Amino acid sequence: MTPKIINLPKIVDPRGNLSFFENPRQLPFEIARTYWIYDVPGGEKRGSHAFREQQEFIVALSGSFDVVLHDGETEEKFSLNRSYYGLLVPKMYWRRMENFSTNSLALIVSDKLYDAGDYIRDFEEFKNLKNVLS
Ligand code: TYD
Repeated sequence: MTPKIINLPKIVDPRGNLSFFENPRQLPFEIARTYWIYDVPGGEKRGSHAFREQQEFIVALSGSFDVVLHDGETEEKFSLNRSYYGLLVPKMYWRRMENFSTNSLALIVSDKLYDAGDYIRDFEEFKNLKNVLS
């Protein structure tokens, strides 16, 4: 699987718009966990790591930020700035989140419970593992 932007339904309404995602219609996995990142001070970066097994879907519910993904060879930057689409991050992609706007809110859903052992926090280790797997 490769990273991809998934467009979400947008129910436009004069009372305020509404978007959603469901498994399996928009989201290709069942959600085991939901978390969010907020109150990020200017210039901070989050999440320089990869996951061995878990995949995630990231939505900028408010404001904007960049998700930079590295597949072991090249880096790709995804700018998220609308709440009606999100980024699917498959397992074994090094990911960094940066360039958070003031008051931005990142919603992240994962197909796995939190497991510190699923993190790869060393980039060289990540690259080596990626080479072995591919
Ligand atoms: P972490 O994923 O390491 O954040 P980042 O990579 O952006 O620095 O999470 C930071 C801390 O929060 C870490 O000590 C573990 C804890 N945490 C949970 O307890 N549950 C969760 O679902 C997540 C994502 C983190």
